Amino acid sequence: MSAPLQVTVSNTLAPELLARARACAEAWGLPFFQRDKYTGLPEGTYLVLGGDGWTLRDPAGTLRFSEGLARLRIKRLEAGERDDVLVRLCELEEGDQVLDCTFGLGADAQVCAHVVGSAGRVVGLEKSLPLWALASEGLKAQVSSPRHAPIELRHADCLEFLRAQAPQSFDCVLFDPMFGKRKKASPAFDVLRAHAEHAPLPAEAIGLARRVARRWVVVKGARYTEDLKRLGLHPEPTSRFSEVVWARVRGGI
Ligand SMILES: C[S@@+](CC[C@H](N)C(=O)[O-])C[C@H]1O[C@@H](n2cnc3c(N)ncnc32)[C@H](O)[C@@H]1O
Repeated sequence: MSAPLQVTVSNTLAPELLARARACAEAWGLPFFQRDKYTGLPEGTYLVLGGDGWTLRDPAGTLRFSEGLARLRIKRLEAGERDDVLVRLCELEEGDQVLDCTFGLGADAQVCAHVVGSAGRVVGLEKSLPLWALASEGLKAQVSSPRHAPIELRHADCLEFLRAQAPQSFDCVLFDPMFGKRKKASPAFDVLRAHAEHAPLPAEAIGLARRVARRWVVVKGARYTEDLKRLGLHPEPTSRFSEVVWARVRGGI
C-alpha cells in the first residue's frame, strides 16, 4: 500500500508558499507536512508547492502538470494537419461541448478546448485526488489562450457524474481509462500510474454516456488487448503503427 498523501512546500519554506499550501491542504482534506528548511523529504507521497508550481512526488519520481503532448497536437492542428484521431472521431467543431470522463493530465481535454474555442465548453472528470489536485492547480496556473474554451475540472467518478446529467447535455463524451496492458513509461508516467484510478470501466459507462452525448461517445484502448471488446465496442480503422485503438458509438439514445 502506498504511503498516505501529504501536502508540503519546497525546502526554502517561503512564507507565501506555506500559506497557500496550508490552505490547499485544508481544502483538499489532506494533512500538511511541516518540513525543515533546506532538507530533503522523508520517503512518502507528497503534493509539493514550489516557486514553479505543484508537483506530485513519490519514491518512483516526480510528476508535474504540463501542456506536454497537447502542445504538439495543437501546433499540428494550427498548421492545418487533420490527423488528430480524437478530433476526427468526435467530429469536433467550434462551439461544441465536450465531457472528458478520464482527465488524467488533460492532453486530450486541452486539444478539445483548442478546437471548440471560446464559444465551447470542456468539462473534465478525474477520480484520483492527487491527480485532480495537481491538474486543477496546473490549469489555474496555465496561461491559456482566450481563444480556447475554459476547462472545468471536477474531482468526480465519471459514472456518478454521468448518472446525474440531463440527456444530451454534451456533444461528445470521451473515455481514456488506464490501459490493462503496461506500456513502457517514463518515471513521471510511473507516478501517474501509481496514483491513477485503475478499476476497469464497466460496460454500463458506455450506455450512460450515450444518453448524455448528443453526437459521439469516443473510447481509447490499448492495441492487442480486450479493452474495447469487453465494452462491446469495435475499433475504428487507424494507423497500424499506433499503440492505441479507438472506438466510437452514437450518442443521442
Ligand atoms: C490514461 S489517463 C487519461 C489521460 C488523458 N486522456 C490525457 O490526455 O492526459 C486515465 C485517467 O482516468 C482516471 N479515471 C479512471 N477511472 C475514472 C473514473 N471512473 N472517473 C474519473 N476518472 C477516472 C484515472 O485516474 C487517470 O487519471
